[in-house]
Parts: sequence; C-alpha cells; structure tokens
Amino acid sequence: MAKSPWKSFLMSCWGKSVESSAARRGELRSSSNSGISDSFRAPFSPEDLSLTLAGSNLLAFTIAELKAVTRNFSMTNFVGSGGFGPVYKGYIDEKLRPGLEAQYVAVKSLDLDGSQGHREWLAEVIFLGQLRHPNLVKLVGYCCEDEHRMLVYEFMPGGSLENHIFKSLLASLPWSTRLKIAVGAAKGLAFLHEAEKPVIYRDFKASNILLESDYTAKLSDFGLAKDGPQGDNTHVTTRVMGTHGYAAPEYVLTGHLTAKSDVYSFGVVLLELLTGRRCVDKNRPNRQKNLVDWARPCLNNADKLSRVMDPSLDGLYSTKGAQRAAAIAHKCLSHTPKSRPDMRSVVECLEPLLSLNDVPVGPFVYVAPTERVGEKKEKEQEQEQEMEEKMEMETEEKNHHNRDERHKQRFPNSVIHSEITLHRDGNNLYRNSHVRRTVRQNQERGA
Ligand SMILES: Nc1ncnc2c1ncn2[C@@H]1O[C@H](COP(=O)(O)OP(=O)(O)OP(=O)(O)O)[C@@H](O)[C@H]1O
Ligand SMILES: [Mg+2]
Repeated sequence: MAKSPWKSFLMSCWGKSVESSAARRGELRSSSNSGISDSFRAPFSPEDLSLTLAGSNLLAFTIAELKAVTRNFSMTNFVGSGGFGPVYKGYIDEKLRPGLEAQYVAVKSLDLDGSQGHREWLAEVIFLGQLRHPNLVKLVGYCCEDEHRMLVYEFMPGGSLENHIFKSLLASLPWSTRLKIAVGAAKGLAFLHEAEKPVIYRDFKASNILLESDYTAKLSDFGLAKDGPQGDNTHVTTRVMGTHGYAAPEYVLTGHLTAKSDVYSFGVVLLELLTGRRCVDKNRPNRQKNLVDWARPCLNNADKLSRVMDPSLDGLYSTKGAQRAAAIAHKCLSHTPKSRPDMRSVVECLEPLLSLNDVPVGPFVYVAPTERVGEKKEKEQEQEQEMEEKMEMETEEKNHHNRDERHKQRFPNSVIHSEITLHRDGNNLYRNSHVRRTVRQNQERGA
C-alpha cells in the first residue's frame, strides 16, 4: 500500500475535519440504504487529485467517455442503486484509450441530491486507488468533472452476495460456495488490517461483497473506510458510521473503532451465510428480529446448530464444517473486542473447511446463475407461455381424440377416423401439428 498522506490532502481541501457531515452528526445507516447526507462541495481542482493519485494507475475519465461506455447511462445498462447513486454496466472498447484493454466496467454515479457525497467519493478513490488485492474490487478510474463524481470499477458478473442470499429466485447457494465466499471476504479484510498503514473497512456487509462468476468474493465500497490506529493508540475515535445490524456494539456505544469492529461485522455476515437470514428482519417474530441475538446460543452447541442452519440447504452441508464455521462466527461476535480473533486467524480456520468432504450427496442440482433477475422473469414468462401452449395443445388433442373416439364408435366402418386429421389450406393439405405450428409462428411474428 502506498504511503500517500491522503488525510492531509483531505484536510487541505476542507479544513480540519475529514469526517463527512453525516459523521459529524453521527449516523448509522439502516441496512436498506438510508444514510449519510453530504451536500458538501469540495473547493479543489481535478489537478490536485491527479497529483495525489499519481502512481496509482487510476484513469481520469471524462463524462463524454462514460456516456459512450454506458450508452448514455441507458436504463438497459442500469444494474442497481445504493446510497451513493445509480450503477450502470458499461463496456470500454479498445478504441476508447490507446493501450487500455477492452473490458466490462460498472460505473457508479454520485446522486447529487442523494444521501452520500463528495467525501465518500474521494475516500473511495483514495483508498481503493492505492490498494490492490484479489479480494478487493478493482477501481479502474474515476470522473470528476464539474459537479459530476463517478467511480469506474471492474464489472463483477455475480452481483452482490446480498442478492444471492436474500433476493435470488434461483436455487439456494450450496454450502461449498458459501464457504468460498466467506474465505474470500475474510482474506480481503485480513489484507486491509495487515497493510503497512492498516485500514478499517467499517462497512462490511453482504451488499458490499461482490462476486465473480466463479464466486470469488471482492470487497467494494470504501466510502467509510478509515486509517487504523497507529503507534501506541489502540483505537481511533469517530462518530458512529456503518450499517445497523452489522456494526459492532462497542463501536455503536462509544465510537471507538478498531479492526475488531470489522471482525464483528464479519461474524454477522458469516452468520447470514449459515442461516440464510438477514441480520435485522423486521418481518420476523420479536425474538427472531435480531439475527445475532437469536442464533448466538446455538452456535457453540452441536445439537442446536441444525435449528438455525439455512433450511434451503436441505441438510446438504458438512456437519463438521458447519460446527467449526459456527464456532468462528461465535468468536467474531464476542461482546469483548479483545476476545475476537484477528482476520488472519479467521482465514486460517475457515480455509481448511473447504476440503472437508463429508457433505451428504443429495438429488440437488445447482444451476449457476448467469442471468439477472429481470432476465430470469422474462425466461420464466416464456416458459409459462410455452407450458400454457403445451397444455392448450394437449387439451385440443384430447378433444380431438374424444371426437374421433365418438365418431369411431358411431361409425365403425368410416374411413375418417384415422389418428391424423388433414386440413385444407388452398391447394395444400396439412396435418394438425403443422396448422398449430403455423398459428403459433404467426403469433410470434405478431400476425
Ligand atoms: N463493480 C460492480 N460490478 C457489478 N455490479 C455492481 C458493482 N458495484 C455495484 N454493483 C451493483 O450495483 C448495485 C448498487 O451497489 P451500491 O454499492 O451502490 O449499493 P449497495 O451496496 O446496495 O448499498 P450501500 O449504499 O449501502 O453500499 C448493487 O446491486 C451492486 O450489486
Ligand atoms: Mg455497496
């Protein structure tokens, strides 16, 4: 990690404070994206930024370029939206910049009337611009033109973990995939905590874990990241930021932030992976609304653990692996920060669970989701339509058969009761199926 004194750069931009306005007010976001308000506009020039980021390999894009990349921020390229603003899929072709390889990107655009602001954008550019690791999403570049603030990331085809565990209509994630994701995300956090100048991520949650098509997990969203304590300091004191349900209790109470606050949040996500439940779910009965409170008593108890495991796994998980993972989650969720393990130990305990081979084999087929929810709906509608057509055809066939049967019984010697009925169309004769196909083809063509 580079040693760029970004904090002093921020201070030179805005005076003493480097916290956002929300930080000054002390805000904790709910897990559904309410958040930090920052109407602040920075009095610094793009040249200052380029100087600060020299050597980071980040590209400064123009609005015109990003319009070309996202087909003018078209709704067909829209992939979702969070506290920062809308995100669009884009394609950088080889002609955009000489030497820049063609690639898919995600362009995140700051909503100027939205809940986050320039500070989160700048923190993201500065932190992620200087950090490179296989479990951190790669920031390709940024755009800082007039009021516009954008972030250009490598595109993550698997979307977010949140979408997979809580929103997907597809088959549930298998056990080994859940473990792979947990290990990848743990490695990302361990890297941040062990950096030469340690970084506290502060917003570790399922929606900030993005997935490659092979389920490699990468952390995104460094808008709330902070430099960790240095020298003899054990913590940094900040106003409470983060997301309700994921933030460590001592941090919420005192504002004392340590790497162990991230470890707690990791424990919450691990628990979400084990149980398939959200950390806060207002739709559940009172005693189950808070996932940690509900599941904690079962995590260190082999007999009770199965009660809280995700039922959609259908029991297809390694019992030993689940027990060990639950024990790790229990430690991470310890009330006393000192009793929580560091992220390196978490990686060391979790990774060997990937090779346990006591997962029961069941009649379970997992179809890797390569489509997004919209596409899935379309496919489902198509399948439904096909099913309806098939049923119609079968009913028609049945009616026909019944007619033929009646005819056969009434006129046993008639020659018309063959199984195939011929229809005349002009000079041509067609069998049933052909006529039906023609009608369907016409319908498909919009005739
Ligand atoms: N690099 C990326 N590749 C693919 N999809 C992405 C990428 N970055 C973000 N997304 C998608 O864009 C949507 C919005 O992401 P964003 O990070 O802005 O919000 P969020 O994580 O849902 O909420 P929050 O503001 O609390 O972080 C999500 O569905 C996410 O999966
Ligand atoms: Mg996010």
